[in-house]
Amino acid sequence: MTRDTDNAQTPSRIWWKEAVAYQIYPRSFMDSNGDGIGDIPGIIQRLDYLRDLGVDVLWLCPIFSSPNDDNGYDISDYQGIMADFGTMEDFDRLLTEAHSRGLKVLLDLVVNHSSDEHAWFEESRASRDNPKRDWYYWRDGKPDGGLPNNWESIFNESAWTFDETTGQYYLHLFSSKQPDLNWENPDMRQAVYRMVRWWLDKGVDGFRIDAITHIRKDEGLPDMPNPEGLDRVPSFGRHTNRPGILQYISELCDETFNRYDCMTVGEANGVTLDDASEWVGADKGRFNMLFQFEQLKLWGTEDENRLNLPELRRTLTRWQTGLDGVGWNALFVENHDIPRIVSTWGNDQEYRQQSATAIAAMYFLMQGTPFIYQGEELGMTNYPFSDISDFDDVAVHNRVAKLRAEGWTDEDILHYVNGSARDHSRTPMQWDDSPHAGFSEGDPWLPVHTNHTWLNAAAQAEDADSVLNFYKRMIRLRKSTPTLVYGRYEVVREDDPQVYAYRRTDDEAGYLVLTNLSDEPANWGAHGLDLDSAALCLHNGRQNETPQPAVGNVVTLGPWEARVYRL
Ligand code: GLC
Ligand code: CA
Repeated sequence: MTRDTDNAQTPSRIWWKEAVAYQIYPRSFMDSNGDGIGDIPGIIQRLDYLRDLGVDVLWLCPIFSSPNDDNGYDISDYQGIMADFGTMEDFDRLLTEAHSRGLKVLLDLVVNHSSDEHAWFEESRASRDNPKRDWYYWRDGKPDGGLPNNWESIFNESAWTFDETTGQYYLHLFSSKQPDLNWENPDMRQAVYRMVRWWLDKGVDGFRIDAITHIRKDEGLPDMPNPEGLDRVPSFGRHTNRPGILQYISELCDETFNRYDCMTVGEANGVTLDDASEWVGADKGRFNMLFQFEQLKLWGTEDENRLNLPELRRTLTRWQTGLDGVGWNALFVENHDIPRIVSTWGNDQEYRQQSATAIAAMYFLMQGTPFIYQGEELGMTNYPFSDISDFDDVAVHNRVAKLRAEGWTDEDILHYVNGSARDHSRTPMQWDDSPHAGFSEGDPWLPVHTNHTWLNAAAQAEDADSVLNFYKRMIRLRKSTPTLVYGRYEVVREDDPQVYAYRRTDDEAGYLVLTNLSDEPANWGAHGLDLDSAALCLHNGRQNETPQPAVGNVVTLGPWEARVYRL
């Protein structure tokens, strides 16, 4: 691997490396007109909150026209705004208002697939000789009448849907309303590039690039190996990062992003550290950073399967050291596709505040650009879904159908999907203690968590010890400390069963991040580290009390206690 500068100690400063990003799920962020659905004017109303929090980049999940089969990830017009969310004038106002507060705006680029209601697909499906026929994947069934191949979609149906009009099947790696675009077609690719440039010319500051590792399919779309003789072979983590894909990524970047000063983060299921330098190597001219999926395998979804600290530390440390001087990490613990972190890795009962903030310190001060998912900064928790019919997500609906067909009882299904459902992170943002949590005057599209009466932004703003105020202090510390942005990462005591500890160092300074990720107290010291005289710069204990000082270079950390020292 090559280093990105000749002098790795003083890398040139780059805005997106110093930024703190905040992910907005527009449907659930803020509703301005009482229809129960969050919208763009609602986001504008909350921009001051975001500025006060201290973030600099907003990533908006898709805001484009969509029939909402997958809540906007099925786009029917890439240059239109979803009616539920407002108008293009609203968007232009959001961009202006955000920029005037120093906030940049990233959009979600969803180009592995479109909606089946996109004009491109409507043309493509109209006849076998339509000029856009080849913009999607159309295939005949097998001679014996079977499906074109044995792939299951990521949302648990067959990856093929039959279309009466022309008597062929189309491919969709996600839902049947998300047909895959065929990246082998150069006209389709150019149409995508024109659309991306149109948004960048409008002034957006970059993109999160959805499901991008799926755009290249294996030559000939062959059956997957199926030793267990399944009806369909699951696709999650498959059909990703296939040989030849980098040529498409390079072309996409050269035709669009590389012509602008913008920020890009690719959703990168299937990219391992071994090939990450091809995707984000500073000398490669592709993406700035990736959301890697290796840490997602560590999500404890059952009570007995909580945080696996040794595995987490190994995985994050590999990415930290592997990309140092080569590329750049995107740091995250939550997004709209996974349950709330305080309910999975943390303890959302007796240690909610402590565990939410300890986990925050653990990931946020690593080398990379940290992302916060809306509500994470409040320590929002999973929703206690008690009936299968309460779930909204198409992925859950399809999974339920599959499990029912396999003979599972509804009770077992509920238990199972409750562990992983994406709806947990999609319940409305909890702004205050009013009936709909200050999110809406009307009935919200997904229920508001009952804990909003005490777990909300307004209450936390008043409480020095809240998760929200911890995030503010942590963001300030990171932003005022170049060492915490650019410095080297070095894990300390990598076999500790409770405490995740690491150092960040450069020629100027050294910091120690100490997080006890367990329900039990921990005594912690490390050979050669002078803790007695180190300065405490951040902690998640009571702000009006001084945490117990180190004695003999050993600190006693309470359950889920986090401290950051300047050494
Ligand atoms: C990504 C998105 C997810 C969506 C899928 C299909 O994984 O994060 O929400 O369902 O792509 O677009
Ligand atoms: Ca609304």
